[in-house]
Amino acid sequence: MVKISKKNSGWWDDFFPAFRPFFGLISQKQTNAQVRYITNKLDLKPGRKFLDCPCGIGRISLPLAKMGIKVTGVDITQPYLDELSKKADRRSLKINVARADMRRINFDSEFDAGGNLGGSFGYFEKGSDNRLVLKKMYRALRPGGKFMIQVINRDWIMANYQPRDWQEIAGVKSMEERHFDYRTSINYGKWHFIKDGKEENFKLIVRIYSFHELIAMFKSVGFADIEGYGSTKEEPISRDKQMMYIIGTKPRRK
Ligand SMILES: C[S@@+](CC[C@H](N)C(=O)[O-])C[C@H]1O[C@@H](n2cnc3c(N)ncnc32)[C@H](O)[C@@H]1O
Repeated sequence: MVKISKKNSGWWDDFFPAFRPFFGLISQKQTNAQVRYITNKLDLKPGRKFLDCPCGIGRISLPLAKMGIKVTGVDITQPYLDELSKKADRRSLKINVARADMRRINFDSEFDAGGNLGGSFGYFEKGSDNRLVLKKMYRALRPGGKFMIQVINRDWIMANYQPRDWQEIAGVKSMEERHFDYRTSINYGKWHFIKDGKEENFKLIVRIYSFHELIAMFKSVGFADIEGYGSTKEEPISRDKQMMYIIGTKPRRK
């Protein structure tokens, strides 16, 4: 795995360690429904190899490993990987864990399936860097392998845009101030985290994509049989659906 260099640093270095409590906003019920959908849609069975990139604290990696799937989890936030490894050890689960920038992974035709889940796409200001994330995932899959992205839907964002938002969990409050650049489709967020009366501020920069743009990007890196849904119940994508689930297949060699 590549070394983490300055080239791989960005807003995520400061943001994600502070963001940790906010994983608690995703309910176990939601995670269970996603895990069921992922296993079903990506044809995951015990013994199959799955690349979870980025894996975070193992929200998806851990339940998949428990089902006997051979999971590799890659993320850039070391404390998240430490937490994931500890939980895996405690539950006697084997998960390969690696620290890397998602643009720089170097797997080649090793995995039966892969996922970029939980709204982890669009983190780079340059569109070519976001495309590189898909390209590296495509390369990591064996021919016939399947990939799923679960990502925020630009059309929902446009219909529901709030310049400010509050959330609170486990004694940490957050306020996000947002600015949307229509020229680039990038959302520039400033998060204020407030804990024990102390405030810290972090930047969050996400390039937001619509379904049709992601179809084009999937195709441009080689994926075929592209499908997209607005929920794990396979409702159609529309401006009323906050998240999109898009699935593509790496074609088998002819
Ligand atoms: C919203 S979390 C989702 C994590 C996980 N997929 C899930 O569904 O719970 C996004 C993850 O992306 C990771 N991340 C951010 N920038 C990254 C980068 N450049 N390369 C690899 N991982 C990155 C963060 O550390 C964080 O764990």
